[in-house]
Amino acid sequence: MSKNVKDYIRTIADFPHEGIMFRDVTTLFADPRGMRLAIDQLLEPYVGQRIDKVVGLEARGFILGGAIAHQLAVGFVPIRKKGKLPGAVISEAYTLEYGEAVVEVHDDAIQPGEKILLVDDLLATGGTASAGVKLIERLGGKIVGCAFVIDLPEIGGRKVLEDMGYDIHALCA
Ligand code: PRP
Ligand code: ADE
Repeated sequence: MSKNVKDYIRTIADFPHEGIMFRDVTTLFADPRGMRLAIDQLLEPYVGQRIDKVVGLEARGFILGGAIAHQLAVGFVPIRKKGKLPGAVISEAYTLEYGEAVVEVHDDAIQPGEKILLVDDLLATGGTASAGVKLIERLGGKIVGCAFVIDLPEIGGRKVLEDMGYDIHALCA
């Protein structure tokens, strides 16, 4: 029987802290069939829609977002952890499943009215993605959708983003 995206992902207990069941997508990325399947399925709902740029969340969203941007023949914009981008930035603070952080985007990376697809590997609390959509909207970008390989619905991120009015696409739980 053919494998699903979920079959390529392994779970490692107690990383990076006790009690966290860490979903490790490196095994998905390392497999040629798994990687292609994930990219194809992430793109599926957006076929035929206008997308001007793909925005990826550090770090695993860069790998997926870069491949998706290539497939759509559009540009890629990174949202990075604080202090990594060299140009002028705007910032958003957020909390996540195991800590607190600040993310940034270059203030000229998105033009007002551009249609944006936000991509990351995993949705847990939704803190990272919420900070990402806020950055995009502060620059005038319009979110077409937020695409994730994994949604952990019991942690609540999907509800947070859906309540904010965003369309969530996830491949597995
Ligand atoms: C992970 C994951 C998402 C985020 C999801 O990244 O790749 O970006 O957590 O969690 P949330 O929905 O609770 O915000 P992490 O912060 O571990 O950073 P990394 O990819 O740079 O290691
Ligand atoms: N980011 C937040 N929670 C995570 C988890 N359980 N596995 C992988 N990345 C995560």
